[in-house]
Amino acid sequence: MSQTLTPAPLPVFKEKDCDLSIIRGRRVAVIGYGSQGRTHALNLRDSGVTDIVVGLKPGSPTRAKAQADGFVALTAGEATAQADVVAVMVSDEAHRDLWTREIEPKIRPGAALIFAHGLSVRFGLVQPRPDLDVILASPKGIGPRIRDLYEAGEGVFCLFGVHQDATGAAHALGLSYAAALGCGRKGILETTFAAECESDLFGEQVVLCGGVAELIDAAFMKLVEAGYPPEVAWFECFYEVKLVTDLMFERGVAGAFAKISNTAEYGAYLTGPRVIGEASRDAMDDVLGEVRDGSFVRRLMADYDVGSPELLARRRLLGDRLIEQVGARLGRIAAEH
Ligand SMILES: NC(=O)c1ccc[n+]([C@@H]2O[C@H](COP(=O)([O-])OP(=O)(O)OC[C@H]3O[C@@H](n4cnc5c(N)ncnc54)[C@H](OP(=O)(O)O)[C@@H]3O)[C@@H](O)[C@H]2O)c1
Repeated sequence: MSQTLTPAPLPVFKEKDCDLSIIRGRRVAVIGYGSQGRTHALNLRDSGVTDIVVGLKPGSPTRAKAQADGFVALTAGEATAQADVVAVMVSDEAHRDLWTREIEPKIRPGAALIFAHGLSVRFGLVQPRPDLDVILASPKGIGPRIRDLYEAGEGVFCLFGVHQDATGAAHALGLSYAAALGCGRKGILETTFAAECESDLFGEQVVLCGGVAELIDAAFMKLVEAGYPPEVAWFECFYEVKLVTDLMFERGVAGAFAKISNTAEYGAYLTGPRVIGEASRDAMDDVLGEVRDGSFVRRLMADYDVGSPELLARRRLLGDRLIEQVGARLGRIAAEH
């Protein structure tokens, strides 16, 4: 990509641009009470939304948690049937079946659907009726962290978008919902379901999860195979990632480089582009293609439909890696008195 591109900035909304009274006047069903669902329900309530029900599977292990937090827990269908706003806070692979079995048959005409990730709408796993408002409110953070920041009077950025505005009120309602999560304290950026979803899948595969994990492991194993002590390799290739990425997060990459040694900085300029060379950029093109043409989501759903054997097998292999054993051993040593 040309570094001279100057794309137009996204519209940004702050708390003052959002009318909290809109969401306060609605009955909200939060379906799912995991990482996002619990945070959405608690933040909405603390922002003055008084009419909230939680929808869960019968016998769900999280039902007790929702009840302990003071919410009425119903089935997803029952909660949906009573609600003006249905927040779908269930893992993405489960949206299709949840939609066809429980939400679509029960959702009221003119109600609003809120998603925290655009995947199921972007790839047609959920195809909402034309009378429904369909809104994205995707806070940029892990659920419990969003909650902690909210309680501290802070917030996280939110990607927001309207896929379908059946009532003419979807935009204002979505902003009101995002502000009730606390995101107006930081910034609510308006985008589309497709941009959020495609860039999210690409980013987590290429950088955040797939890329970072493989880069760390490949470099760690290279040092170990060359005869260096695994503990030393662990510090250099894993432990210090947090130190440097924290600096990058606080100051940007250039600001972080101003704080590291000249040796580290000079080496970075020489070596970074060799490790992330043409082959890596070609792989990124392939990944983006598979995200956009839906083949990644088709593969995800095909695995899910037969009980996720590929996901589970790969998860087991990851746990067996040497780097995990070295990290666990150092963790035990650190915990000793
Ligand atoms: N994790 C994050 O911080 C994060 C960040 C941004 C966006 N998101 C998005 O937020 C959404 C929710 O993800 P999450 O990570 O919060 O999920 P999660 O932690 O895995 O929680 C899922 C919740 O949904 C419930 N559930 C699963 N299937 C259900 C069904 N058929 N009917 C009713 N409830 C059901 C689960 O209950 P059981 O315990 O009974 O299975 C659990 O309470 C996803 O769209 C995700 O992409 C997540």
